[in-house]
Amino acid sequence: MKIISAKDYYYMSRMAANIISAQIIMKPHCVLGLATGSTPIGTYKQLIHWHKKGDLDFSGVTSINLDEYKGLSPDNDQSYRYFMNHNFFYHININLKNTYLPNGLEKDSEKACKDYNHIIQTSGGVDLQLLGLGLNGHIGFNEPGEAFEKQTHCVNLTPSTIDANSRFFENPDDVPKQAYTVGIKTIMQAKKILVIVNGANKADIVKAAFFGPITPSVPASVLQLHNDVTLVGDETALAKLD
Ligand code: F6R
Repeated sequence: MKIISAKDYYYMSRMAANIISAQIIMKPHCVLGLATGSTPIGTYKQLIHWHKKGDLDFSGVTSINLDEYKGLSPDNDQSYRYFMNHNFFYHININLKNTYLPNGLEKDSEKACKDYNHIIQTSGGVDLQLLGLGLNGHIGFNEPGEAFEKQTHCVNLTPSTIDANSRFFENPDDVPKQAYTVGIKTIMQAKKILVIVNGANKADIVKAAFFGPITPSVPASVLQLHNDVTLVGDETALAKLD
């Protein structure tokens, strides 16, 4: 694993964006695995900036996101589709038809997951997977558990996640209780993985995930078994690594 330390969030984002641009330049028709959350926002901003300067062309790129809430429509500003459109896709020249997220409106979980696995398979596989890291070691919505879940599956959100999300919804019944997420096997099949982390609150989990035992109770620890992982973090998130 390569570890790259950046002075702060801005430089972490620039470094991650550099790695993603290198991928696009070397393979214009590449497949990017993308994430939502607060960590990648700066990376997306930097990529948008380089695109607007004329340095980066997304016209050949396909993107496959990690996860989506079950039950939320793409127009709902809490959906991950909305997040990706507004924070990234609407500002670059990617063909929206080549941007994929699990279908949150599909009520039949089995079908939603099967369809998404099919999309991933027919895309030819992810060239570069961007990942954020949850405070409990989750990647995508693969939460700590008994076993590493393999392919796309439907997860029940924890009461604390449901509770945290409730502030964004007027009606408590509208708060998503489930989400679709790609599985650990799919993430591990990406040719390259880029993990980005920032903030002192991530320092303990970064250490546990990359230098602790490989265990489903820290889902990201499985990344230790991948042969091309780059971890880019700001100094505070990497502070507990020796
Ligand atoms: C987002 C995702 C999540 C986040 C993780 C970290 O698509 O799959 O696993 O990457 O929760 O979130 P932030 O970046 O907000 O700390």
